[in-house]
Amino acid sequence: MPRGDLTACRIIEFPVIRDIRGNLTFVEHRHGLDFPIKRVYYLYDVPAGAERGGHAHHELQQMIIAPSGSFDVVLDDGSEQKVVTLDRPWMGLRIGSMIWRELRNFTSGAVCLVLASTSYEETDYIRDYAAFKKLALEE
Ligand code: TYD
Repeated sequence: MPRGDLTACRIIEFPVIRDIRGNLTFVEHRHGLDFPIKRVYYLYDVPAGAERGGHAHHELQQMIIAPSGSFDVVLDDGSEQKVVTLDRPWMGLRIGSMIWRELRNFTSGAVCLVLASTSYEETDYIRDYAAFKKLALEE
């Protein structure tokens, strides 16, 4: 069994308060967020054709949201892959530890908002795919 849980990488639907003045979505622990947020970061002005990600994490838990525009997230546990498209502002993609991810096909003006369980620590990153695969699949 791979150490990362690909089946746990799933779309969470956050509440939507619809209003003629504009819609509102919120993220909180009672509504689908299952870890305390320590950090928020976001990608924007991503040029056409650019790819982000290309790493896994030892510990980090994340929720990825597309508040504007869309992009694809390729998820990989070292054995299997699946692709999730984020194209609705009320959807979040939950990604656990030991999952390799690549983000691609950003539309113009897309924003990738990431809620993260820990502060930034380079030692938590696995940036070499071969090393990830070995670690992910070792008994
Ligand atoms: P990286 O995680 O490689 O970006 P992505 O996964 O979106 O492709 O980070 C790019 C650079 O930004 C790298 O030098 C580390 C730095 N960085 C921080 O300083 N703090 C952060 O919270 C993040 C996510 C990255």
